[in-house]
Amino acid sequence: MSAPQLPGHPHVHYQQDQLQVEGCDLGELASLHGTPLFVYSKASMLGALAAYQRGFAGRNARVCYAMKANSSLAILQLFAKAGCGFDIVSGGELARVLAAGAQADKVIFSGVGKTRTEMAVALKAGICCFNVESEAEIDVLNEVALGLNLQAPISIRVNPNVDPKTHPYISTGLKGNKFGIAHERTLMTYQRAAALAGLRVVGIDCHIGSQITEETPYLDAMDRMLDLVESIEAAGIPIHHIDFGGGLGINYNGDTPPAADALWHKLLVKLDARGFGQRQLMIEPGRSLVGNAGVCVTEVLYMKPGEQKNFCIVDAAMNDLPRPAMYQAFHTIVPLQYSPTQPSTEVFDVVGPVCESGDWIGHGRELAVKAGDRLAVLSAGAYCMSMSSNYNSRPKAAEILVDGTNSHLIRQRDEFADQIRGEKLL
Ligand code: LLP
Repeated sequence: MSAPQLPGHPHVHYQQDQLQVEGCDLGELASLHGTPLFVYSKASMLGALAAYQRGFAGRNARVCYAMKANSSLAILQLFAKAGCGFDIVSGGELARVLAAGAQADKVIFSGVGKTRTEMAVALKAGICCFNVESEAEIDVLNEVALGLNLQAPISIRVNPNVDPKTHPYISTGLKGNKFGIAHERTLMTYQRAAALAGLRVVGIDCHIGSQITEETPYLDAMDRMLDLVESIEAAGIPIHHIDFGGGLGINYNGDTPPAADALWHKLLVKLDARGFGQRQLMIEPGRSLVGNAGVCVTEVLYMKPGEQKNFCIVDAAMNDLPRPAMYQAFHTIVPLQYSPTQPSTEVFDVVGPVCESGDWIGHGRELAVKAGDRLAVLSAGAYCMSMSSNYNSRPKAAEILVDGTNSHLIRQRDEFADQIRGEKLL
């Protein structure tokens, strides 16, 4: 039997029954660098970006990578070199992306809770746009800009009240969510903002949710956004760019989201039909650029058969891979060594060493494993390392970026000193 096609294909694949990322053997990388170990494919990330760029060929469009998905410096550097802008949500993300070599004038700043300090730093750096999320934020940003004798370029984040049909924690464009300004209040909010001397209206934006696997929510949100652009411009306020946010899903478990270029082909047909095809467009994809590019390699520590359940205890945990605990998310888990003869499998809960029952990585997985084997948790390039923590005083894992047959250590494993830096004894 030949090895199955995995999420992350073709960059994550079995070669002579050994799991590889591009041309690098994961077993060898794990022996060299230890586990848990995140390994990313450069070609996969650049390929995902290229799909958006193909979709936008001939258009005035900018891809702003939503860096919260994976904010490791080398990955930011890769996207900056490939011409990306960035969507940030904190002063920390701004500092990080500038440290990676990004240009400030390609940065947009989203988020419902920007502080005055963060606003001032971003204004002085000369970012491209603040995506403003509330009427109160408009007043504060105006004050901060006036205090610095600057004008803040703004876009108002509209909550289009569209159901993205995804997990409730990652739905953001519904009326009950904390994000954006309600559709009905948008025009008056633009009128208010346009009258303030510290602000310069440049755009409009929305972001309806994450891990979206259907195209309809995007098409619906676009219609509602364009209705608003028409009414705002009819009131004499020009909108230079339209930002449709991120949210496109990836394959975790046989999911089949539309390809980025195919989705944008449809959206551009609509934009053209409504006369907005030549407008400056922006998008803020995160997960779809990096998610399927990454795997987390982990070693089986103990097999623990039980009366009700069998546990497979591995050395990665919820501090490394928080998505199952937080969203009951599914990540495919496969052995590094594929066995074509179909060995007898058993059903396990794959769990980590953290001291709580929420620390699971996969429930009810059919595996043929023993202690000392290594497994790979797939689709782990997005919202894993960037959401990881030192809970249980566990070190943050190391990260490798693979480029063909070359591998680069882009983050060394935490040492104890990293964990206690900044702490003081009484
Ligand atoms: N723009 C804004 C304003 C956002 O809030 C987000 C994600 C994005 C863009 C990028 O969305 P993406 O293309 O990655 O779907 N931790 C969760 C996902 C949280 C998404 C938060 N916002 C998870 O692991 O599923």
